[in-house]
Amino acid sequence: MSEHTVLKMTDMNYSPERPAAENPIKVMDLTLRDGHQSLFATRGRTEDMIPVAEKMDAIGFWAVETWGGATFDTMHRFLNEDPWERIRTLKRYFKKTPFSMLLRAQNLVGYRNYADDVANAFMDRACENGMDIFRTFDALNDYRNFQTVVPKIKEYGKHFQGCICYTMTEPRLGGEVYNLDYYVNKAKDLEAMGADSICVKDMAGLIAPYDAYELVKALKAATQVPIHLHSHFTSGMSPMSHLKAIEAGVDIIDTCMTPYAYRTSHAAIEPLVMALLGTNRDTGFDIRKLAEINEILEKEVLPKYKHLLDDSKVSIIDINVLLHQTPGGMLSNLVNQLREMDALDKIDDVYKELPKVRKDLGQIPLVTPTSQIVGIQTVNNVLFDEPGERYKMITGQVKDLCYGLYGKTAVPINPDVQKKALKGYDRGEDPITCRPAEVLEPELEKAKDEIGDLAVDMDDLVLYAIYPVTGKKFLQWKYGKEEPPAEVKAMSLEDAKAKQDLVNKARKGEVVEKAKLDEMPVKSEGARKFNVFIDDDCVEVAVDEVGGSPVLNFLQAGGQVAVAPAPAAAPGPVPAAAPAPAPAAPTAPAPAAPAPAAAPAPAAAPAPAPAADAEGTPLNAPMPGMIVSYEIEVGDTVEKGDTVVILEAMKMENALPAPCSGTIKAIGFKSGDSVAKNAVLAVIG
Ligand code: CO
Repeated sequence: MSEHTVLKMTDMNYSPERPAAENPIKVMDLTLRDGHQSLFATRGRTEDMIPVAEKMDAIGFWAVETWGGATFDTMHRFLNEDPWERIRTLKRYFKKTPFSMLLRAQNLVGYRNYADDVANAFMDRACENGMDIFRTFDALNDYRNFQTVVPKIKEYGKHFQGCICYTMTEPRLGGEVYNLDYYVNKAKDLEAMGADSICVKDMAGLIAPYDAYELVKALKAATQVPIHLHSHFTSGMSPMSHLKAIEAGVDIIDTCMTPYAYRTSHAAIEPLVMALLGTNRDTGFDIRKLAEINEILEKEVLPKYKHLLDDSKVSIIDINVLLHQTPGGMLSNLVNQLREMDALDKIDDVYKELPKVRKDLGQIPLVTPTSQIVGIQTVNNVLFDEPGERYKMITGQVKDLCYGLYGKTAVPINPDVQKKALKGYDRGEDPITCRPAEVLEPELEKAKDEIGDLAVDMDDLVLYAIYPVTGKKFLQWKYGKEEPPAEVKAMSLEDAKAKQDLVNKARKGEVVEKAKLDEMPVKSEGARKFNVFIDDDCVEVAVDEVGGSPVLNFLQAGGQVAVAPAPAAAPGPVPAAAPAPAPAAPTAPAPAAPAPAAAPAPAAAPAPAPAADAEGTPLNAPMPGMIVSYEIEVGDTVEKGDTVVILEAMKMENALPAPCSGTIKAIGFKSGDSVAKNAVLAVIG
C-alpha cells in the first residue's frame, strides 16, 4: 500500500473525528449470525443480542448479519424462538445499520431446493419482516437457482448480493476447474443478473493472501459492482488475506466482535481498525466503542455460551484445512460422525476417500449442504462398502444430486455412480438438465392442509413448509399445545455463573455440593454409576433418568428383539421385560450427545408399536439420528432392500432398506423421535 500516509498517533486518531480516509474499507459485522454459528453451535438467543444492539448500531458498520444460514433451523428447533420475531425485535434496536441475511438461494434456510411457491412466500416474509441485504449463494454456483429469489429481492427494492462459493481443486487458486477464469465468469454472470454487490464466499478459510489479491484485482477489473470478501479464519490465513484484498481494492470485509472471532469464525474487527488507522482505507471506527461492546459481551453474554465452544484443542488453527482443502466444520462433523459410530480409527480412510467422492459427484464446492452430502457419503463408503461393491449405501441427497435436483455440477458426475444412485429413484432414472425447481410440485397448499390451523399466519406456514417435523413441534410449543422441554429453555446469567462456580470448585477438589431438592427422589435400581475424573481426583456418581428419555433398546438372547417402552415421567421400576442396561451397553449410548442435526429427545411418549414380544430380524439404526418417516406400517410385507424408514443423520436423509423379506412385526419409533445407534427401528418376521 504505497499510496497511504500514516498520520501521527495522537488521541485524535482514535476518535471517529479523525480525518476520513479517501476510500474507507466497509465492514459487515457477523457476530450475530456467522459468529455464533461458527463458535457456539448457532445457539445465540435474541435476548443476548439486545444488550449490545444499540452500541453496535452506532459503530458505522456497512451492515450487520443477523439472520439466515443455520439460525432459522436452530432457533425453532433448539431455542424455542420464532425466527421471524428475531428480525422484528432486533430492528427496534438497530435503527440505521442495514440487516443482512445468508440466503441459500432456492434452499432458502433449509437443506434442499424448495418449490417456487415456498421460495416466493419465504422471500415475501423475509422482506416484509425487515431484511435488507440478501447474501445469496448456491452450493453448486448454479445461478439458475437464483432465478426465483432474485426478482423478489428486486421487487422489494432490497440489496441483492450474489455469492461465488470459493473452493479449490489444488492447494492454491488455479488448476482445471476452480481457476481465475472460473471466478471472473461467475462474477460476470452475477453482474448480469443485477447483483448490487458480489461476495467471494470463502466458507472454509481456503483463500491464500496472494490469491485473494489476484482474485480481487481481477474481479474489480471485470465488473463494476462492489466486491465483498467473506473468509473464515479456520486455516489462520484470513487476516493476511483481508489485508491483501484491501490492498487490491476490495470494497467490503467481514469481521466479528472479538469474543466471537477466530477459530472457525472470522477475524476480529479491532485489529483491522488499528491496522488501517490513518491509511487511505481507514475504517473510521472508534476502537474504544468497540471495546465497550466487547466488555458487555464478555461479562453478560459469553458466560452463557462458553460451554458450547469446542476448545478441546489449544490451537485455534485447523491445519487439516490446509492439508485437505476442506471446510473445518465439515471435518469436525466427520470426526463426530465416526466417533458416534465407534469408527474413529477410520479417519485416514475418510480423508483418502473424500476427494474421490467429491470428484465422482462432479467436483462440487464444499459448502452447506454439499459439504454434508459429500461428507456423509464418504463416511458411508468407508464404513459400508465391500471389496466388490462401491457406493453400497447411497444417501437420499446423493440420489437427488445425481438426478440434478441441486443443479448443475462443475464437471459431470461419474456416470457409473449416477446410474447406481438413480436405480429405482422415485422421480425417474434419467437425470434432468433444467432448473431444479421446475420439476418440483408446489408445496405450500399441501403444507397448509397438513398443518391446518396450527399455522396461524404465513410466517408459521413457511416455517412449517421448510421444517415439517421440527416446525410442527415448534408451533405446538408456540401455541401452548405442548410444553416445551427443559433443554430448549434459556439459561440465565445466574445459572451460568452458578454452573461455572461448581465446575471451578470441583476442579479445585472442593466438596461437590449436594443437590438442593425439596424432596430427595428415591434412587432406582436402574441408576447407572459413573466415575467422574477431575484432574487427579475421582468421584463416583449415580445417575437416574428423570422424565422423558429416549427408548432403550437391547437384544435378548437368541436374537429376539425387545423394545422397551419409554419410561414413565417419574422414576419408577424398570419394566419387567427390560433388564437394567449394562453400564457400557453399546446399544444404548448416552442420549446427551446426539448428532448435531438430531432434535432434542422427545417428551415421554410410548413408542407407537412396542415390539417387546416381536420375534424376527431387527432393522437397527446404523447411526444416531432422527426418524423422518416410516415408509411401511405394521403388517406390511416387504422385500429385502425395500425402504423401511427414512433416518435423518447429520442433516442427511438415509433410506434404510429391509435386511430381509417378510412381514413388519413391529415399529419402534415415530416421526420426530431421536434414536441412538443400533436402536431397533423395526422388526421383520
Ligand atoms: Co460463513
